[in-house]
Formats: sequence, structure tokens, C-alpha cells
Amino acid sequence: MDKVVKVKIVEERSYPIIVGKGLLGRVGEILREEGCGHLAVIADGRVESLWGDRLREVLNGAGVKHLFLKVEPGERNKNLSSARRLWNELAENKVDRGWWLASLGGGMVGDLAGFVSASYMRGLDFLQIPTTLLAQVDASIGGKVAIDHPKGKNLLGFFYQPKLVLIEPSFLLTLSQRQYKNGIAEVIKYGVIKDEELLHLLRKKGREIKERKEELLEEIIDRCVRLKADYVEKDEKDVLGIRAQLNFGHTIGHIIERESRFRLLHGEAISIGMVFAGELSFRLGFLSLKELQELRELLSLYNLPQSINFPLSIEKIVEGLHWDKKVKEGRIRFVLLKRLGEAFLFEEIPLKLIKEVALQLGAIA
Ligand SMILES: NC(=O)c1ccc[n+]([C@@H]2O[C@H](COP(=O)([O-])OP(=O)(O)OC[C@H]3O[C@@H](n4cnc5c(N)ncnc54)[C@H](O)[C@@H]3O)[C@@H](O)[C@H]2O)c1
Ligand SMILES: [Zn+2]
Repeated sequence: MDKVVKVKIVEERSYPIIVGKGLLGRVGEILREEGCGHLAVIADGRVESLWGDRLREVLNGAGVKHLFLKVEPGERNKNLSSARRLWNELAENKVDRGWWLASLGGGMVGDLAGFVSASYMRGLDFLQIPTTLLAQVDASIGGKVAIDHPKGKNLLGFFYQPKLVLIEPSFLLTLSQRQYKNGIAEVIKYGVIKDEELLHLLRKKGREIKERKEELLEEIIDRCVRLKADYVEKDEKDVLGIRAQLNFGHTIGHIIERESRFRLLHGEAISIGMVFAGELSFRLGFLSLKELQELRELLSLYNLPQSINFPLSIEKIVEGLHWDKKVKEGRIRFVLLKRLGEAFLFEEIPLKLIKEVALQLGAIA
């Protein structure tokens, strides 16, 4: 049975997220039911070569006319020149407002296709078909779409909610080990900020999850999707400080990711960031030592890094916090833990403490 999560924003922007093993085989049917007869698919090149034929077959079976546009894999292609090329190709193929546009791939292509959907002819109906774990539990949900600019990642973008998100766990079977782990870090984050049962599952079923048993993948993804949808409903545009909790581990994580020149994947960097935030929570007397150790054990169960493993000075971290506007009068804003399963925003972290934890986790004095 598919699991359906409804994202309830204002009426015209509400939409379902469907999670289910075997869903790929029903994409055509579902689109037909939604009234979609023409679909332009913006596909990550690697995913297209692995899964494109199957999707084409399914769309043909349901009589959905389709056009596939490929984008080379890699974050460097999430830019204006890709968007421009896609706009051109859509126009050359006479794609109009009667068409839907889909993304097939990870968050890179999802963000780019969403950006193109939002802008082409003032907005086409948009379908997300995420194929990485990170995109299935995070990037495809919530309506943030963007491209990068030389002056900053995700600098140009929109809030543009999709009409539908279809999540097929079987896509994850072809994902590299490193990319899979990258997504697991985000899954752990959801458990840590809000879902004790998910934490329990991650601990108890470690082996099966690492083996990517599809029933478990489905269950885990469904839990994460529900959590994210809930945050998005309460704070669609990320202005109330509610959606900010999703940034647990990300304050330091983003700095580490950037300073590693993206040699560390996002999930690897936020794994270190989560340990950092956990340590702060412990030192400030919120989180018990036992729970901090449990967090560390969970990250090591999934072989995620817990210390800064490249030369990074404390000064760079402090600079990064200023750059992110996280510092106000020498005090810093951070998402911390009261316990495993409950996060909160704390505004009063002394810079001195940040430096101590940075040193402990391997930053250079
Ligand atoms: N919009 C949001 O809310 C949001 C949230 C988080 C991240 N993001 C964005 O997401 C992007 C990162 O996404 P990502 O981690 O999915 O990376 P990605 O899209 O770059 O994909 C990672 C790699 O996996 C490959 N791949 C994808 N699916 C595969 C499959 N099923 N089998 C084999 N290989 C496959 C791709 O070819 C690529 O090489 C970043 O651009 C980030 O800014 C957006
Ligand atoms: Zn993240």
C-alpha cells in the first residue's frame, strides 16, 4: 500500500506526497488521473541512463506524451546556463502551459527543474521524482527551488510548491554507498530533532537499513516526509523560526562543507555539525552525557564522520558564523537538543564555548 502524505498549505498550494515501492510502474497512470497528458522530464544524466527507459515505457503505457531533457550530473550544473538551455529546449519543443514538468534525479536536478518550472511561462505544473535518499527525505519537499550563482549557493530561486511528489524507494538500490550514507545523515537528523521512534528503528534495524531493505526504506522515508511536511505547513516560507529546527547540525555543517571545498558531502558535513551541536547542548546542561554518546554511537553505526578531518582553523569557523549572520553581540544562535527527539532554538551561546568545541572536534587553534 502506498503511503500518502498531504502537505496542507493554503488550498491552491496543497499537494500529496506519495511514497511506495513499485510506484515507478504507476507514474503514468497517476499522471493520467491528475489530468496530465504531456510531460517534460528534466533528468540527471546518470539517472536517465539507469532508469530513463523504464520511465519512458511506463509513460508510453499510459499514453502520456513525453520529452526528456538531460542535465549532466554534478552541483556545478545547477546554474543559469543550464536553466537557459532548458528554457530554450522547452520553447523549441513548443512546450506550453498544458504540459507538466518533472524532475528525475537528486536534489541538484530537483532544484534546477523546479527553478525552470517556476519561471517558464510563469509556472508549469511541477512533479518531483526524487532518486537520492537526500532528495526523497528533504530536497523534494517544501517547495524551495533554486540555482547557484558565483556569489552563493542557491542564490537565485523561488518558493514554488510542486503539484505532486512521487517517491519510489527502489531508486535507492542503484545509489552509491557514499550518496546513500549522505542521505542517512539527514534521516538521523529528523530522528534527533523530533522522532524517537525513528531513532529506535535506526538503531534496531541498522543492518537491514544498511542493506537497503525496501520495506524499511519505505517506512523511514515516510516518517521523514511526514516530519518535513509538518514543518513546512507550519512555516512555509521559513520566517517563523519553526522550519529553522530542520537546520540542526547545519550551522557548523554548512561551514565545514564550504571550507572542505565540497570534498565532504552535505550529509558528512552535517554529521560533524550534529556532533558539534550535541556537544554544545551537553556543555550547556541541556543534553545528558548518555544521550550525547547515543547520538555518537548512531552516527558511527552508519559510518558517518564525527570530527573535522581536514585542516580547518577555528578562525574560519568564527568567520563563517559571522558570514551566516549567526552572531549577535558575541552570542550565537544555534539549534540545540533538550534530549534526543527534541530540538529547540537557543540564541545565547558564548563564542568561547564554540571555540572550545571546535578545538575538541579537530579544528586548528
Ligand atoms: N530544495 C531544498 O529544500 C533542498 C534541500 C536539501 C538539498 N537541496 C539541494 O540538493 C542538492 C543535493 O542533492 P543530492 O544530494 O540528491 O545530490 P545530487 O542531485 O547531486 O545527486 C548526487 C549523485 O547521485 C547520482 N544519482 C542520483 N540518483 C541516483 C540513483 N538513483 N542511482 C544512482 N545514482 C544516482 C547523481 O547522478 C549524482 O551524481 C544540492 O544542490 C542542494 O542545494 C535542496
Ligand atoms: Zn541538509
